[in-house]
Amino acid sequence: AVQRTFSILKPDATKRNLTGAVNAVIEKAGLRIVAQKRIQMTTAQAQTFYAVHKERPFFGELVEFMTSGPVVVQVLEGEDAIAKYREVMGATNPANAAEGTVRKLFAQSVGENTVHGSDAPETAAIEIAQFFAGNEIVG
Ligand code: CMP
Repeated sequence: AVQRTFSILKPDATKRNLTGAVNAVIEKAGLRIVAQKRIQMTTAQAQTFYAVHKERPFFGELVEFMTSGPVVVQVLEGEDAIAKYREVMGATNPANAAEGTVRKLFAQSVGENTVHGSDAPETAAIEIAQFFAGNEIVG
């Protein structure tokens, strides 16, 4: 079925001027960018977004990194978009990412791993709603 997923191009991507290169990989895979904006995430936004990880030892570092520079938040649409984007991104740790994936191509470490993508339909809906109003998504 056609789905929507939420994507973030992280600060390591904006810092290295790689947003277009990542978008090219996304579009080549057949996913459509139906909403997109460049923002500076606040600490509160990052803490809310990653609330599920708040007990993890890397939570502070994660929030720090995600607010260290601009990010590009996106909604991607396509057939099985959630699973497809996870394939396109590659493993969380770039050392384990398959050839041709965004993280294999561009990521520097498990923390500075270039992209985020939703892991399930429920989280996709919650994540999209945190950053986009309905009328900002144009399919
Ligand atoms: P993301 O998909 O955005 O969701 C949670 C993030 O936590 C994950 O990508 C990683 O970037 C980050 N993460 C996971 N493990 C670690 C770790 N050991 N150290 C720092 N960041 C991590």
